[in-house]
Amino acid sequence: MKIALAADHGGYELKEKIKVYLLQKGIELLDLGCNIGDSVDYPNYGKACGEAVMNGEADSGIVICGTGIGISIAANKVKGIRCALCTSLFMAEMARKHNNANVLALGGRILTPELALDIVDVFLTTEFEGGRHQHRVDLLHCIENGTL
Ligand code: RB5
Repeated sequence: MKIALAADHGGYELKEKIKVYLLQKGIELLDLGCNIGDSVDYPNYGKACGEAVMNGEADSGIVICGTGIGISIAANKVKGIRCALCTSLFMAEMARKHNNANVLALGGRILTPELALDIVDVFLTTEFEGGRHQHRVDLLHCIENGTL
């Protein structure tokens, strides 16, 4: 499993913690920045992560900004991306089981690092349930190609 990670300055510290945590677990990472805590623009990072997932460089992604809102909106602009902003374990579980989310968004100024790492664990270990949820996920992509 290879995970793409991207953050703006509001998510930089949490990105670094997640990076250490996932590397310790032996998970391969693609760190798309930012590389320092300087002020950067979250749309560039959300887009980069979404594209890395869609072009197969990574299996799924994690994007982080201050609230998780801006960077999740950016990632969701990439065709094929289903980015879920999660603030609880339940949201992370549902994002995978029902939405088949392929990118997780977190708020670096919203979550404790402990909760954030637990959310990452749930997100990365929960399978999509398929069934009736597959049809709904298909409809999301009909919005993208103008058939809904
Ligand atoms: C940057 O200050 C902040 O606006 C950004 O990290 C994010 O929270 C936007 O949604």
